[in-house]
Amino acid sequence: MVNILVMNGPNLNLTGTREPEIYGKETFEQILDEMHKRYYPFAFEYYQSNYEGALIDKLQYSCVYNAVLYHAIIINPGALAHYSYALYDALRTIHMPKVEVHLSNIYKREEFRQKSVVASACDGSICGFGKESYFLAVEWLKMHFEKPRS
Ligand code: DQA
Repeated sequence: MVNILVMNGPNLNLTGTREPEIYGKETFEQILDEMHKRYYPFAFEYYQSNYEGALIDKLQYSCVYNAVLYHAIIINPGALAHYSYALYDALRTIHMPKVEVHLSNIYKREEFRQKSVVASACDGSICGFGKESYFLAVEWLKMHFEKPRS
């Protein structure tokens, strides 16, 4: 069983109603439900917070050193991606596969969104494919965990 922490930052709790032309019309609960169905027996635990410190606490409590509860992280930091060095530092302390995702293509948007300060603390980043950004992250994790180990 592979346990994946799916973590969303500020405002992503409003997915489905917030700027649907950018972030889509589906709620994150609907997206998660599809994820559970598509990728069973991968297990997903969802955590969302509008607070930077709460996200960092969750990462520390569940992913660092002897309290490791997950095998991988998929994180959409929301706007924190563009300026949170604290989240970058927290992600750096975690030694498991980490994928940054964004629903929208941050490179096609306002200039301040075109840089992610957390990207280099992750294994890779996927953006611009709506809910499929999350699914593509799981596809990579599947390849990663199914790869024969030498
Ligand atoms: C986002 C992109 C961010 O720039 C924005 O602040 C969000 C959502 C995305 O998923 O496209 O909240 O992370």
